[in-house]
Amino acid sequence: MPLPKPNLYPPFNIVRLSHVEFVVTDLAVSRTFYVDTLGLQVTYEDEQTITLRGLEERGHHCVVLRRGEKPVANSLSFKVYDEADLDKAHDWFKAQRLPVEWVERKWQGRTLRTRDPIGIPLEFYAHMDRLPPIHQKYKLYRGVSPLRIDHFNCFSTNVDESVAFYNSIGFRVTEYTDDAESGKLWAAWMHRKGGVHDIAFTNGRGPRLHHIAFWVPSPLNIIELLDLMATTGYLANIERGPGRHGISNAFFLYIRDPDGHRIELYCSDYQTVDPDHEPIRWDLKDPQRQTLWGAPAPRSWFEEGSFFAGVEVRDAELKAQPIVAP
Ligand SMILES: [Fe+2]
Repeated sequence: MPLPKPNLYPPFNIVRLSHVEFVVTDLAVSRTFYVDTLGLQVTYEDEQTITLRGLEERGHHCVVLRRGEKPVANSLSFKVYDEADLDKAHDWFKAQRLPVEWVERKWQGRTLRTRDPIGIPLEFYAHMDRLPPIHQKYKLYRGVSPLRIDHFNCFSTNVDESVAFYNSIGFRVTEYTDDAESGKLWAAWMHRKGGVHDIAFTNGRGPRLHHIAFWVPSPLNIIELLDLMATTGYLANIERGPGRHGISNAFFLYIRDPDGHRIELYCSDYQTVDPDHEPIRWDLKDPQRQTLWGAPAPRSWFEEGSFFAGVEVRDAELKAQPIVAP
């Protein structure tokens, strides 16, 4: 299907992605990974919960870790411009016959919980507690020095449908992969905040969360993280990279947290704020799509992902596959 025309005047104004809530099975083990190894900053912790932020972030958290039995993702959250947008979002989702409820979330104002048509649980809020800046407290920089959350990537059972839906609420496509044979979308990258993406969709068994990504200062930080992980017991957690993406042109590394949630370290994509910014097309069979230097991604990268709590998954409708490492 052709890409939809960008909706420059959406029904409510989403500023950016905000945070993910992960269920993890051992908070102490996760703390060692996220705080001592990656270098995220703890903003709250008790026996059930740890909240984290990146070094540039003023909002209270970009990750919430909850202790639980099954390692799932509870929700993906987005910040809207103001309280009026939250009410507009409520009415819009309700008009689409999607479930809406107001939920209580510590450190946030009014929070709307809903879902998208393929089942991804979404939350929207306008106000989160603000914290003092720490980006010039260089003694806090360690690990890979994560500056901020950059994007979510989800498995979608129908990427055309996902793109049509998110396009209708103002996300704009920056790059996409299609299957030349069927003409259907296989993957798409969509933004609100003016980078390559806030959220991306990959064809696959879903809905599932493929990964979340943190923006880091430079490729050198990623190399240093690899040295650290390789010598502190995290060798098996290194999944793919380092490398340069074809799509987004970002330098990347994919790692797995102790429960298997996939994390990307990411830097150096490009500006996309122009309302007439033209999307870039990639062919599914082009090996430089995944990695500019040509190395294909491992099979696990196409098959494994985090389940959303209580959400049933199904196979992708499109069966086309990219080139996969043997
Ligand atoms: Fe990514």
